[in-house]
Amino acid sequence: MTQLVFDESLAEQLEVLYRSRDILRRRALIRAALGAQPGERILDIGCGPGFYVAELLDEVGPEGFVVGVDGSAAMLAVAAHRCDERPNVAFHEGDILSLPVEDAGFDRALSVQVLEYVQDVEAALAEMYRALRPGGRLVVWDVDWATVSWRSSDPQRMARLLRDWDAHLAHPALPQTLTAQLRSVGFEDVHMDGHAFATNQFSADSYGGALVPVIERYVAGRKEIGDDELSAWVAEQRELEARGEFYFACIQFGFTATKPG
Ligand SMILES: C[S@@+](CC[C@H](N)C(=O)[O-])C[C@H]1O[C@@H](n2cnc3c(N)ncnc32)[C@H](O)[C@@H]1O
Repeated sequence: MTQLVFDESLAEQLEVLYRSRDILRRRALIRAALGAQPGERILDIGCGPGFYVAELLDEVGPEGFVVGVDGSAAMLAVAAHRCDERPNVAFHEGDILSLPVEDAGFDRALSVQVLEYVQDVEAALAEMYRALRPGGRLVVWDVDWATVSWRSSDPQRMARLLRDWDAHLAHPALPQTLTAQLRSVGFEDVHMDGHAFATNQFSADSYGGALVPVIERYVAGRKEIGDDELSAWVAEQRELEARGEFYFACIQFGFTATKPG
Protein backbone atom coordinates (compact mmCIF):
# COMPACT_ATOMS: atom_id res chain seq x y z
CA MET A 1 0.00 0.00 0.00
CA THR A 2 1.32 3.46 -0.93
CA GLN A 3 -0.40 6.24 0.91
CA LEU A 4 -0.77 9.81 -0.29
CA VAL A 5 2.45 11.78 0.09
CA PHE A 6 1.75 15.15 1.68
CA ASP A 7 4.40 17.07 -0.27
CA GLU A 8 4.50 20.57 -1.84
CA SER A 9 2.52 19.62 -4.92
CA LEU A 10 -0.28 17.96 -2.89
CA ALA A 11 -0.24 21.01 -0.60
CA GLU A 12 -1.00 23.11 -3.73
CA GLN A 13 -3.91 20.83 -4.70
CA LEU A 14 -5.27 20.93 -1.14
CA GLU A 15 -5.04 24.72 -1.13
CA VAL A 16 -7.66 24.68 -3.93
CA LEU A 17 -9.77 21.86 -2.46
CA TYR A 18 -9.83 23.46 1.00
CA ARG A 19 -11.21 26.75 -0.36
CA SER A 20 -14.16 24.98 -1.99
CA ARG A 21 -17.75 25.62 -0.89
CA ASP A 22 -18.10 22.12 0.59
CA ILE A 23 -14.93 22.39 2.65
CA LEU A 24 -15.99 25.82 3.95
CA ARG A 25 -19.23 24.15 5.10
CA ARG A 26 -17.21 21.34 6.69
CA ARG A 27 -14.97 23.79 8.60
CA ALA A 28 -18.05 25.62 9.92
CA LEU A 29 -19.55 22.30 11.14
CA ILE A 30 -16.30 21.28 12.81
CA ARG A 31 -15.74 24.64 14.49
CA ALA A 32 -19.31 24.53 15.84
CA ALA A 33 -18.76 21.00 17.19
CA LEU A 34 -15.46 22.02 18.81
CA GLY A 35 -17.00 25.11 20.46
CA ALA A 36 -13.70 26.91 21.15
CA GLN A 37 -14.04 29.73 23.69
CA PRO A 38 -11.99 32.91 24.14
CA GLY A 39 -8.81 32.28 26.12
CA GLU A 40 -8.69 28.51 25.49
CA ARG A 41 -5.76 26.37 24.34
CA ILE A 42 -6.52 24.31 21.21
CA LEU A 43 -4.52 21.50 19.59
CA ASP A 44 -4.96 20.70 15.87
CA ILE A 45 -3.50 17.25 15.15
CA GLY A 46 -2.59 16.78 11.48
CA CYS A 47 -3.22 20.48 10.91
CA GLY A 48 -2.16 20.28 7.24
CA PRO A 49 -2.19 23.67 5.52
CA GLY A 50 -3.47 25.40 8.67
CA PHE A 51 -6.94 26.66 7.71
CA TYR A 52 -8.41 25.51 11.05
CA VAL A 53 -5.52 26.95 13.05
CA ALA A 54 -6.00 30.38 11.44
CA GLU A 55 -9.76 30.38 12.05
CA LEU A 56 -9.44 29.07 15.62
CA LEU A 57 -6.99 31.87 16.46
CA ASP A 58 -9.86 34.27 15.80
CA GLU A 59 -12.15 32.24 18.08
CA VAL A 60 -9.77 31.97 21.07
CA GLY A 61 -8.67 35.61 20.75
CA PRO A 62 -5.47 37.18 22.06
CA GLU A 63 -5.65 35.37 25.43
CA GLY A 64 -5.92 31.93 23.81
CA PHE A 65 -3.31 29.77 22.07
CA VAL A 66 -3.43 27.32 19.15
CA VAL A 67 -0.89 24.58 18.44
CA GLY A 68 -0.72 22.75 15.10
CA VAL A 69 1.11 19.42 14.75
CA ASP A 70 1.73 17.66 11.45
CA GLY A 71 4.07 15.01 10.13
CA SER A 72 4.75 16.90 6.88
CA ALA A 73 7.24 19.77 6.78
CA ALA A 74 5.70 20.93 3.45
CA MET A 75 2.24 21.23 5.02
CA LEU A 76 3.61 22.99 8.11
CA ALA A 77 5.41 25.56 5.91
CA VAL A 78 2.07 26.47 4.27
CA ALA A 79 0.32 26.56 7.67
CA ALA A 80 3.01 28.74 9.27
CA HIS A 81 2.82 31.16 6.34
CA ARG A 82 -0.96 31.41 6.74
CA CYS A 83 -0.56 32.34 10.42
CA ASP A 84 2.38 34.73 9.94
CA GLU A 85 2.55 37.46 12.52
CA ARG A 86 0.08 35.81 14.90
CA PRO A 87 1.82 35.79 18.31
CA ASN A 88 -0.27 33.07 19.99
CA VAL A 89 0.37 30.10 17.70
CA ALA A 90 2.99 27.36 17.48
CA PHE A 91 3.59 24.63 14.91
CA HIS A 92 5.49 21.41 15.59
CA GLU A 93 6.58 18.72 13.17
CA GLY A 94 5.73 15.41 14.79
CA ASP A 95 3.89 12.13 14.58
CA ILE A 96 0.38 11.59 15.82
CA LEU A 97 1.66 8.55 17.78
CA SER A 98 3.97 10.67 19.93
CA LEU A 99 2.63 14.21 19.98
CA PRO A 100 5.30 16.78 20.88
CA VAL A 101 3.06 18.43 23.49
CA GLU A 102 2.68 18.34 27.27
CA ASP A 103 0.17 16.18 29.20
CA ALA A 104 -3.27 17.73 29.82
CA GLY A 105 -2.24 21.03 28.22
CA PHE A 106 -5.28 21.65 26.00
CA ASP A 107 -8.95 22.51 26.50
CA ARG A 108 -9.94 21.15 23.08
CA ALA A 109 -8.37 19.15 20.28
CA LEU A 110 -9.35 18.36 16.72
CA SER A 111 -8.12 15.98 14.06
CA VAL A 112 -9.73 16.26 10.64
CA GLN A 113 -9.21 13.57 8.00
CA VAL A 114 -6.00 12.36 9.60
CA LEU A 115 -6.79 9.16 11.53
CA GLU A 116 -7.87 7.40 8.33
CA TYR A 117 -4.17 7.53 7.32
CA VAL A 118 -2.89 6.13 10.62
CA GLN A 119 -2.40 2.39 11.13
CA ASP A 120 -2.71 2.31 14.93
CA VAL A 121 -5.80 4.45 15.52
CA GLU A 122 -6.18 3.62 19.23
CA ALA A 123 -2.58 4.61 19.95
CA ALA A 124 -3.25 7.95 18.21
CA LEU A 125 -6.48 8.46 20.18
CA ALA A 126 -4.62 7.68 23.41
CA GLU A 127 -2.17 10.49 22.56
CA MET A 128 -5.08 12.91 22.03
CA TYR A 129 -6.52 11.79 25.38
CA ARG A 130 -3.16 12.46 27.06
CA ALA A 131 -2.94 15.97 25.56
CA LEU A 132 -6.41 17.03 26.74
CA ARG A 133 -7.14 18.32 30.24
CA PRO A 134 -9.80 16.46 32.26
CA GLY A 135 -13.15 17.63 30.88
CA GLY A 136 -11.53 18.58 27.56
CA ARG A 137 -13.34 17.99 24.26
CA LEU A 138 -12.12 16.14 21.17
CA VAL A 139 -13.52 16.45 17.63
CA VAL A 140 -12.49 13.83 15.08
CA TRP A 141 -13.70 13.87 11.47
CA ASP A 142 -13.23 11.19 8.84
CA VAL A 143 -14.84 10.01 5.60
CA ASP A 144 -16.45 6.62 5.22
CA TRP A 145 -15.25 5.94 1.66
CA ALA A 146 -17.51 2.87 1.56
CA THR A 147 -20.44 5.31 1.28
CA VAL A 148 -19.25 6.83 -2.01
CA SER A 149 -21.91 6.72 -4.72
CA TRP A 150 -20.59 8.02 -8.04
CA ARG A 151 -22.36 7.94 -11.38
CA SER A 152 -20.65 6.18 -14.28
CA SER A 153 -21.80 4.33 -17.39
CA ASP A 154 -19.07 1.77 -16.58
CA PRO A 155 -19.70 0.71 -12.96
CA GLN A 156 -16.99 -1.94 -13.03
CA ARG A 157 -14.34 0.61 -14.05
CA MET A 158 -15.68 2.94 -11.36
CA ALA A 159 -15.38 0.16 -8.75
CA ARG A 160 -11.79 -0.61 -9.81
CA LEU A 161 -10.88 3.06 -9.66
CA LEU A 162 -12.31 3.39 -6.13
CA ARG A 163 -10.44 0.25 -5.05
CA ASP A 164 -7.19 1.88 -6.21
CA TRP A 165 -8.17 5.12 -4.43
CA ASP A 166 -8.86 3.19 -1.19
CA ALA A 167 -5.15 2.33 -1.06
CA HIS A 168 -4.39 6.01 -0.39
CA LEU A 169 -5.20 5.50 3.28
CA ALA A 170 -4.97 2.91 6.04
CA HIS A 171 -8.69 2.73 6.92
CA PRO A 172 -11.15 3.44 4.07
CA ALA A 173 -14.18 3.02 6.38
CA LEU A 174 -12.82 4.27 9.73
CA PRO A 175 -16.04 5.89 11.04
CA GLN A 176 -17.55 2.40 11.33
CA THR A 177 -15.21 1.59 14.26
CA LEU A 178 -14.40 5.00 15.75
CA THR A 179 -17.12 5.01 18.43
CA ALA A 180 -15.74 1.85 20.04
CA GLN A 181 -12.14 3.00 19.63
CA LEU A 182 -12.84 6.37 21.31
CA ARG A 183 -14.52 4.61 24.24
CA SER A 184 -11.78 2.03 24.57
CA VAL A 185 -9.11 4.68 25.23
CA GLY A 186 -11.30 6.32 27.91
CA PHE A 187 -13.36 9.00 26.18
CA GLU A 188 -16.99 9.42 27.23
CA ASP A 189 -20.06 11.18 25.78
CA VAL A 190 -19.10 9.91 22.33
CA HIS A 191 -21.46 11.43 19.77
CA MET A 192 -21.49 10.87 16.00
CA ASP A 193 -23.04 12.97 13.22
CA GLY A 194 -23.07 11.99 9.55
CA HIS A 195 -23.01 14.71 6.89
CA ALA A 196 -23.81 14.13 3.23
CA PHE A 197 -21.46 15.74 0.72
CA ALA A 198 -23.44 15.39 -2.48
CA THR A 199 -23.20 17.32 -5.71
CA ASN A 200 -24.51 17.40 -9.28
CA GLN A 201 -21.63 19.67 -10.37
CA PHE A 202 -18.16 18.71 -11.55
CA SER A 203 -16.71 21.94 -10.20
CA ALA A 204 -13.81 22.76 -7.90
CA ASP A 205 -16.39 24.15 -5.45
CA SER A 206 -17.84 20.72 -4.66
CA TYR A 207 -16.04 17.97 -2.73
CA GLY A 208 -16.75 15.41 -5.47
CA GLY A 209 -15.71 17.72 -8.31
CA ALA A 210 -12.52 18.83 -6.58
CA LEU A 211 -11.62 15.19 -5.85
CA VAL A 212 -11.38 14.22 -9.54
CA PRO A 213 -7.90 15.71 -10.15
CA VAL A 214 -6.64 14.47 -6.76
CA ILE A 215 -7.80 10.91 -7.55
CA GLU A 216 -6.50 11.16 -11.12
CA ARG A 217 -3.05 12.04 -9.83
CA TYR A 218 -3.03 9.32 -7.17
CA VAL A 219 -4.33 6.33 -9.14
CA ALA A 220 -2.20 6.96 -12.27
CA GLY A 221 -0.08 3.85 -12.81
CA ARG A 222 -1.72 1.79 -10.06
CA LYS A 223 -2.71 -1.82 -10.38
CA GLU A 224 -6.51 -1.91 -10.74
CA ILE A 225 -6.81 0.64 -13.52
CA GLY A 226 -4.70 1.41 -16.59
CA ASP A 227 -3.81 4.86 -17.98
CA ASP A 228 -6.31 4.56 -20.85
CA GLU A 229 -9.10 3.60 -18.48
CA LEU A 230 -8.19 6.48 -16.19
CA SER A 231 -8.31 9.00 -19.06
CA ALA A 232 -11.63 7.51 -20.18
CA TRP A 233 -13.04 7.92 -16.66
CA VAL A 234 -11.98 11.57 -16.44
CA ALA A 235 -13.41 12.23 -19.94
CA GLU A 236 -16.66 10.53 -18.92
CA GLN A 237 -16.97 12.76 -15.84
CA ARG A 238 -16.53 15.84 -18.07
CA GLU A 239 -19.17 14.52 -20.49
CA LEU A 240 -21.59 13.83 -17.64
CA GLU A 241 -21.08 17.42 -16.47
CA ALA A 242 -21.66 18.75 -20.02
CA ARG A 243 -24.95 16.83 -20.17
CA GLY A 244 -25.97 18.02 -16.69
CA GLU A 245 -25.72 14.44 -15.36
CA PHE A 246 -22.72 14.56 -12.99
CA TYR A 247 -23.47 12.91 -9.62
CA PHE A 248 -21.26 12.32 -6.56
CA ALA A 249 -22.23 11.60 -2.96
CA CYS A 250 -20.47 10.42 0.20
CA ILE A 251 -21.00 10.62 3.95
CA GLN A 252 -18.44 12.25 6.22
CA PHE A 253 -18.60 11.75 10.00
CA GLY A 254 -17.91 14.11 12.88
CA PHE A 255 -17.32 12.60 16.34
CA THR A 256 -17.26 14.56 19.57
CA ALA A 257 -15.95 12.99 22.79
CA THR A 258 -14.99 14.18 26.26
CA LYS A 259 -12.09 13.23 28.54
CA PRO A 260 -13.71 12.47 31.91
CA GLY A 261 -13.41 15.39 34.37
C1 LIG B 1 -6.05 15.17 4.44
S1 LIG B 1 -4.89 16.19 5.27
C2 LIG B 1 -5.95 17.05 6.44
C3 LIG B 1 -5.36 18.37 6.91
C4 LIG B 1 -6.21 19.18 7.89
N1 LIG B 1 -6.57 18.40 9.06
C5 LIG B 1 -7.47 19.72 7.24
O1 LIG B 1 -8.50 19.04 7.26
O2 LIG B 1 -7.43 20.83 6.70
C6 LIG B 1 -4.09 15.00 6.35
C7 LIG B 1 -2.92 15.59 7.13
O3 LIG B 1 -2.54 14.63 8.11
C8 LIG B 1 -1.12 14.62 8.20
N2 LIG B 1 -0.72 13.31 8.73
C9 LIG B 1 -0.95 12.09 8.18
N3 LIG B 1 -0.43 11.13 8.95
C10 LIG B 1 0.14 11.75 10.02
C11 LIG B 1 0.85 11.28 11.17
N4 LIG B 1 1.06 9.98 11.38
N5 LIG B 1 1.28 12.19 12.07
C12 LIG B 1 1.07 13.52 11.87
N6 LIG B 1 0.42 14.02 10.80
C13 LIG B 1 -0.04 13.16 9.88
C14 LIG B 1 -0.67 14.87 6.77
O4 LIG B 1 0.67 15.35 6.70
C15 LIG B 1 -1.69 15.89 6.30
O5 LIG B 1 -1.28 17.21 6.51
